[in-house]
Amino acid sequence: MNLFDYKDNELYCEDLPLELIAREVGTPCYVWSEKTFKNQLLSFDAAWDGINHLTCYSVKVASNLSLLEIVAQNGLGADIVSGGELFRALKAGIEPSKIVYSGVGKTASEMVEALEAGILMFNVESKPELELLSKIARERNKVAPVAIRVNPDVDPQTHPYVATGLKESKFGVATIAAIDMYNFAAQIDSLNPIGLDCHIGSQLLSLSPFQEAARRLKELLISLRSRGLAIKYVDLGGGLGINYDKEEPPSPEQYASALKAIFEDVKDLTIITEPGRVVAGNSSILLVSVLYNKKTQVKDFVVIDGAINDLIRPSFYGSFHGIVPVRLTDRPAFPVDVVGPICESGDFLAKDRSLSQVFSGEYLAIKSAGAYGFSMSSNYNSRLRAAEVLVSGDTYRVIRRRETREDLIRGE
Ligand code: LLP
Repeated sequence: MNLFDYKDNELYCEDLPLELIAREVGTPCYVWSEKTFKNQLLSFDAAWDGINHLTCYSVKVASNLSLLEIVAQNGLGADIVSGGELFRALKAGIEPSKIVYSGVGKTASEMVEALEAGILMFNVESKPELELLSKIARERNKVAPVAIRVNPDVDPQTHPYVATGLKESKFGVATIAAIDMYNFAAQIDSLNPIGLDCHIGSQLLSLSPFQEAARRLKELLISLRSRGLAIKYVDLGGGLGINYDKEEPPSPEQYASALKAIFEDVKDLTIITEPGRVVAGNSSILLVSVLYNKKTQVKDFVVIDGAINDLIRPSFYGSFHGIVPVRLTDRPAFPVDVVGPICESGDFLAKDRSLSQVFSGEYLAIKSAGAYGFSMSSNYNSRLRAAEVLVSGDTYRVIRRRETREDLIRGE
């Protein structure tokens, strides 16, 4: 479901014309469809019905409090990777007992915060991390619930920057090292090994790597249980891909049923998932204005007021994002580079893209911008970070105001 569509040649978000938001809020601006976000979240969760499960929305993907409040209000959990994300998740009202904490570099103070908050479990990624956690918990007379993040050495067939399940990656530990860590945890009073975790990568377009990783996890689960460890949770991470251009990812239903089939005969188990992109990706567009048409001897450029500080994905990963005019015309299309005002040649949103002619002051929508869009944005070139707007039916509210010049120098 994706509620960005044309009505009478005008692009709408749900029942609201995007042009109205552009005029009232300004550009660049992230525009979210509340219905799409909520529907993606709830249908992903519902796909797991029939098996004990907990959906932990991956906060890094899009972490605006208003989005996290939707997660909280629907009783779902969060996957966090920093103290900052813990702060956001708790502020939004997500129950600590539904928060899982991943990441290879948790600091001592982050561990303390998460322990005090009473999160569901720490997804531990190395022996030194496990040792530090046991020490911190002991000093506070607490028991830290842990899962070991296993690196199943499965090729997720995705962009190398977002592949995490290969043995060369910094994430997780090999099965053999995991067993050693479980043995260690089982002997330490301040640690309670309750889970088993993996996350093999992002924007996966086929089921087989997920299935392969899940089978390896199940094997390890059975072996750990046979050694007397009471592992109650298997966290399968996130990673389900979405459609940006011509991709045909499995649906959440296909994904869930393939993985449910692997675990359905295991008793006393809760499956945790950490979906991000599939929830947020197509729930937002980045609304921008055209500044100039610039022609050189060899290329035509459309210069817009959005840049890689707003959306870094095309430049960083070579990702494709559809770009469409907010008002459809019958003007001819030409191949152009869509670029921003930032002072480097890496500042592009699209290259050699066929785009119908647009003029200064007109608006464009950069599609599928919800996942890792705003959350990866920066102030590079001292640009103010964009506003975020949440549309619900025919109304909208600003869920993050555009930054001001004062925001820019705060703390300096
Ligand atoms: N769980 C863990 C431990 C993760 O590291 C990630 C994403 C997720 C869940 C959510 O994965 P998803 O369902 O969104 O695929 N910035 C890159 C993607 C980085 C992925 C980082 N980890 C991009 O823009 O494509």
